[in-house]
Amino acid sequence: MNEPDSAYVGKLAVLYEGQGDLSIFRQLAERLGVPLRNSNAEDFNPHEAFFLSWRDGCLKLLDTELLKAGGLTVEIEPRAGEQRSWPAPKQGPLAQALGRKTKTVIDATTGWGQDALHIYRMGYELTCLERSPVMAALLADGFKRLQELDWMQRLGLASPTLIQGNAIDILANLDSQPDCIYIDPMFPPKRKKSALAKKSMRVLRDLLGDDTDKSQLFDAALSATGKRVVVKSPDYAEPLGGKPTESFQGKLLRYDVYLTG
Ligand SMILES: C[S@@+](CC[C@H](N)C(=O)[O-])C[C@H]1O[C@@H](n2cnc3c(N)ncnc32)[C@H](O)[C@@H]1O
Repeated sequence: MNEPDSAYVGKLAVLYEGQGDLSIFRQLAERLGVPLRNSNAEDFNPHEAFFLSWRDGCLKLLDTELLKAGGLTVEIEPRAGEQRSWPAPKQGPLAQALGRKTKTVIDATTGWGQDALHIYRMGYELTCLERSPVMAALLADGFKRLQELDWMQRLGLASPTLIQGNAIDILANLDSQPDCIYIDPMFPPKRKKSALAKKSMRVLRDLLGDDTDKSQLFDAALSATGKRVVVKSPDYAEPLGGKPTESFQGKLLRYDVYLTG
């Protein structure tokens, strides 16, 4: 997972399914350094790898199971239970962990963007970091779709800023300190095959593996933040940075808060 350029060799291809502008598929394949496949080709092997393809106007990540139908995409609609206004009320354990006075947040591990978009919809000023070029491509597509939504246009809002790269390096070179840095690295599952994990997270793990440098990321976040670091962690895992200042309990997870000064 730490060498994104070579990480996808033999694992991922861009898939053209006979629809849309082929040159855009080719550009994506070249940018990611992965092969371009055509699902109508005689030698097409559906078991080869993960695939990225545009379906229904969204860039989607597919595994063999999802090839027939569907695909995983950055979901831009509010999650169940979230209020559909903007800004949504700053309620619940995530908002409590981010802190009442927090205005600016960096999500250093954006992944599928679900926490990031929750944070964004609560009205925080958000910058998103993601080191995987595949996830960054999916996020860029999701943020583009977000930008085109009626309510975003009506309110004159811009999608969060997305920066592709290793947060450990990016955080060491910030121009200004955010109030809060949020990290949600990949922890090893409790059991080898966790039936509980969502499909999107299982695929992410299969594609990228665990984040073995999460302690370094935590240290980088602690040095770079203005006021606090929030670590999202499965409830069975030890706190990443030692004893936190405070913790907020979610469903099967915890938000550990580390205040600086
Ligand atoms: C568990 S997922 C995050 C899920 C995310 N919170 C969500 O709501 O979808 C972890 C993500 O962080 C990214 N990541 C891990 N370490 C990183 C680092 N040092 N810099 C940038 N991204 C990192 C991984 O590539 C992966 O996409």
